[in-house]
Amino acid sequence: MTESTIAERNNVTWFKGLVSRKDRERLHGHQGAVVWFTGLSASGKSTIAHRLEQVLHHMGCSTYVFDGDNVRHGLCADLGFSEEDRSENIRRIGEMVRLFVDAGIIAVTAFISPFQSDRERVRALVDPGRFFEIFVDCPLKVCAARDPKGIYAKAREGKIQNFTGISSPYEPPEAPELVVRSERQTPEEAAVSVVRLLETAGILTKK
Ligand code: ADX
Repeated sequence: MTESTIAERNNVTWFKGLVSRKDRERLHGHQGAVVWFTGLSASGKSTIAHRLEQVLHHMGCSTYVFDGDNVRHGLCADLGFSEEDRSENIRRIGEMVRLFVDAGIIAVTAFISPFQSDRERVRALVDPGRFFEIFVDCPLKVCAARDPKGIYAKAREGKIQNFTGISSPYEPPEAPELVVRSERQTPEEAAVSVVRLLETAGILTKK
């Protein structure tokens, strides 16, 4: 549904505040952006995302990490892992990070987000050049061997349905801004490569 249709249906208008995104970005000293990590469960998304946040924080940036497991305790507690629920999960996160970009913050997300169309929909919500899709590429067998939560074992035993990589598909990004290989790179190295990407894109400087 387009924003104008939603506005007509609900009799709502978008209130434009007295402080603009540009004003907020000036205060933060950098641009608002989304760093969207995608990859299999246990591929290293959360570890890298939190390491990235720490590095950016030490550089004086305003950041926030959205983590799959945490968000599913609250905002998306009503959702499961069917294709529809995963799409709705990513749609809600997308709307959330859009607001964070408007707040001038660097939003870092760590969701499996297995479907290309869902990720593309989030990309389309923010201005061009503000969405950085980072593919945390790690072979399924390595993720399954790590299995920090014991869920790959449960999925193999058939105790978890629709498990990504086993009984539910994962669509790798077609044109990610960056690929990190968590099998070969440390979380620190991966985080630094994302910082470089943001620097090159001009996100970390005042406009
Ligand atoms: S997503 O597919 O909708 O993006 P999300 O990142 O929020 O998934 O949640 C993934 C986490 O939920 C996994 O790391 C794992 O801990 C847990 N989980 C529980 N059931 C499943 C499942 N069927 N498939 C994948 N992850 C699951």
